[in-house]
Amino acid sequence: MDRFVIKGGSALSGEVLIGGAKNASLPILAATVLAEGPSSIGNVPRLQDVGALCRILGQIGVSVSRDSVGRLTCEVIDEDCVTAPYDLVRRMRASICVLGPLLAKRGQARVSLPGGGVIGPRPIDLHLKGLRALGARIRIEHGYVVGEADRLRGARVYLGGPSGPTVLGTATVMMAATLAEGETVIEHAACEPEIENLAGFLAAMGASIEGAGTHRIRIRGVEKLRGARYEVMPDRIEAGTFLMAGAITGGDVFCRGARADRLDAVLDRLADANVNVTEEPGGLRVKSCGRPRRTDLTALPYPGFPTDLQAQMTALLSVAEGTSVLTERVFPDRFIHTAELGRMGARIAREGDSVSIQGVRRLEGAEVMASDLRASAALVIAALAAEGETVIRRIYHLDRGYERFEQKLRSLGADIRRESGRDVALPGLGTHARAA
Ligand code: UD1
Repeated sequence: MDRFVIKGGSALSGEVLIGGAKNASLPILAATVLAEGPSSIGNVPRLQDVGALCRILGQIGVSVSRDSVGRLTCEVIDEDCVTAPYDLVRRMRASICVLGPLLAKRGQARVSLPGGGVIGPRPIDLHLKGLRALGARIRIEHGYVVGEADRLRGARVYLGGPSGPTVLGTATVMMAATLAEGETVIEHAACEPEIENLAGFLAAMGASIEGAGTHRIRIRGVEKLRGARYEVMPDRIEAGTFLMAGAITGGDVFCRGARADRLDAVLDRLADANVNVTEEPGGLRVKSCGRPRRTDLTALPYPGFPTDLQAQMTALLSVAEGTSVLTERVFPDRFIHTAELGRMGARIAREGDSVSIQGVRRLEGAEVMASDLRASAALVIAALAAEGETVIRRIYHLDRGYERFEQKLRSLGADIRRESGRDVALPGLGTHARAA
């Protein structure tokens, strides 16, 4: 297992190119199951999660190839296999997004249940409720969702859950409805920009969709969809992560491709925390104006503050002047990173779905452990500003969702290196094989 060794203290400066959005790429790639003929998709990031989905697509008869400029060509070449096996699905929860397309196009699907994660339980009841409303017959058998359908039928589907709308659940039902007979209306749909990006791809394939990006999406089913050429949107979470990394180091970073209209809640909270972000042609610039100030925020479904930037913001606020209160309403248990930040000197106390963060002047380098994708990014942000050296273990979590993260940070002046977990020299003990 690789680890990062980071020496804190350098102010980041320069320009970073924001890559394609992981959370848009995954459902867009899954949607190619619906099409006849090849699709060509650009700006797909090279990430482990994308690789995992491509392996599942291969398993269900979609050929996927990447050309020299990085575009992916996906084409269904065999419709016989409809099984997404546990061994592939367990690596990435979002694999569930092949379920809707398989049922709509082939009338059958067998997809392993994804299971939970460290950020809490990850139910899929709303996905199944939506597909059942469209007429699919679904049962759970030996850890698999097994679905069957003749042609799906349009319906009115309410997709609100206890924590609000569901992003991938909305994607599942929207994809399935494109080939259903008649009209589907999704009420309480997720409004995330990634849903709009997916709807754009489905429309390019010939689907009829109105209202993506709002809480009511209307889909009129069509007989068939054809492959299309499309571009994945820039990753707003990667952009937010680099803005926070720039801010905590007191730097000056231009994030090319970052869009203010996708980050309103984040920019609002950063401004309140005395972080200066300006819109410039082609992107956003973060520029230091001294120590961050306390602020309060609540992670909510879009257009609220994204839960996927909550951990990174916790890292930033841990060096702010004053005490901040941060509440998590999407995944109320998503606070595992706070204990590791505590090992670096952050003062964070949890109460229910909130944490209070008493800002300290300086964090200290320490050995810490990454627990999930965004928590890992939070530890990197903290380490960039900490005094001395931080070693972050289990960074495979980061490789799931950040493309060339350390190279990008290094190009901005960060002192970060990746060490492989094989042979390391322990001080005074020579070279030993590490057990990790
Ligand atoms: C997506 C994102 C993830 C992000 C999350 C919330 C992808 C690949 N992942 O995950 O990075 O953190 O949105 O913005 O796009 N819920 C139910 N029943 C369901 C489904 C969800 O109760 O059937 C609950 C969840 O437990 C959670 C809330 O709804 O409390 C939101 O989850 P959801 O929007 O579905 O997250 P994902 O789409 O899985």
